[in-house]
Amino acid sequence: MVSSKIIDRELFERILEKKNSLDKARPLSAEIVQKLRQEMEIEWTYNSNAIEGNSLSYEETRRVVERGLTIGGKSLREHFEAINHVNAIRFIEKLVEKKQKITEQTILEIHSLIVKGIDGVREKGQYRSGTVFIGGAVFTPPPPIELKARMLDLIDFVNKNPDKLHVIELAAISHHKLVWIHPFVDGNGRTARILMNLLLMKKGFPPTVILNVDRQKYYRRLKEADRGKSKPFVDFVARNVERNLDLYLKAIKTGKDEQYISLQEATRHCDYSQEYLSLQARNGKLEAHKLGRNWFTTKKAIQAYLKKHATKNQKLKFIQ
Ligand SMILES: Nc1ncnc2c1ncn2[C@@H]1O[C@H](COP(=O)(O)OP(=O)(O)O)[C@@H](O)[C@H]1O
Ligand SMILES: [Mg+2]
Repeated sequence: MVSSKIIDRELFERILEKKNSLDKARPLSAEIVQKLRQEMEIEWTYNSNAIEGNSLSYEETRRVVERGLTIGGKSLREHFEAINHVNAIRFIEKLVEKKQKITEQTILEIHSLIVKGIDGVREKGQYRSGTVFIGGAVFTPPPPIELKARMLDLIDFVNKNPDKLHVIELAAISHHKLVWIHPFVDGNGRTARILMNLLLMKKGFPPTVILNVDRQKYYRRLKEADRGKSKPFVDFVARNVERNLDLYLKAIKTGKDEQYISLQEATRHCDYSQEYLSLQARNGKLEAHKLGRNWFTTKKAIQAYLKKHATKNQKLKFIQ
């Protein structure tokens, strides 16, 4: 029986149930997997970089990553950060695929990818050689001389899981441990969020995104963990795990009529344009779910919409 030592019980049980439903739905359709992967890549990159101070918006991040465009008025560094982060995600996806063990080298490689090509960060994939302070934190991270040993302890903790924690707890605590050590000059937060997801993804969880809008809360929770109270941070991570499980489950609803389809696809099942459906989705008239920039709906929702709003003629046009 899988149990949790830290996470709120009700939340934990809900998560297990949702994870179970996701596992039962495997293998997921290739089209859905691809779509979710693309959306998560942008969502995770945008949020993780925004927390770090990158000013690219969600849409700008998408344009840089998917279309290789440059955004006027934004620094080269911000563009690099977007591309680098996606490369780091792709790197860990490969590790997950190949079921590779996490080593010190793994973390150094992730960090190196994150700060690639960025001026002013001389210590790519290397530990810092100076003292560092975390704004707002109540402690000073360990001195450079201790970093190697602390990191090896962390890797050991990650691989051996001595407290027999559930993977969500292990992932959250490993995240906190890494930012507490703060082994790098910069990029500690992004590396920690990637390590956290590497652990989660290895156990079949969807990537979990800490949202930029939650930044203050995230920092407060980390601060509490610094004081030895890690439960609020672990619960915070668990709630985000649940959020992304929900997103995945919604996207893969197994009943055919409940399977998410794009609005473009939905136009084939009714007599409305994509623009009109999008308007109705935004107005809440058509049940739809926004993933990244795009709205998704279901055949069932289109049917329900037609029943309520369409004229007799339009209703007749419902195409299976
Ligand atoms: N009180 C705190 N205790 C531990 N870590 C913290 C605290 N406050 C912030 N952090 C972490 O430090 C990160 C910022 O460090 P930094 O090296 O600049 O990483 P990045 O450049 O990836 O944001 C934050 O994203 C957060 O994860
Ligand atoms: Mg930073």
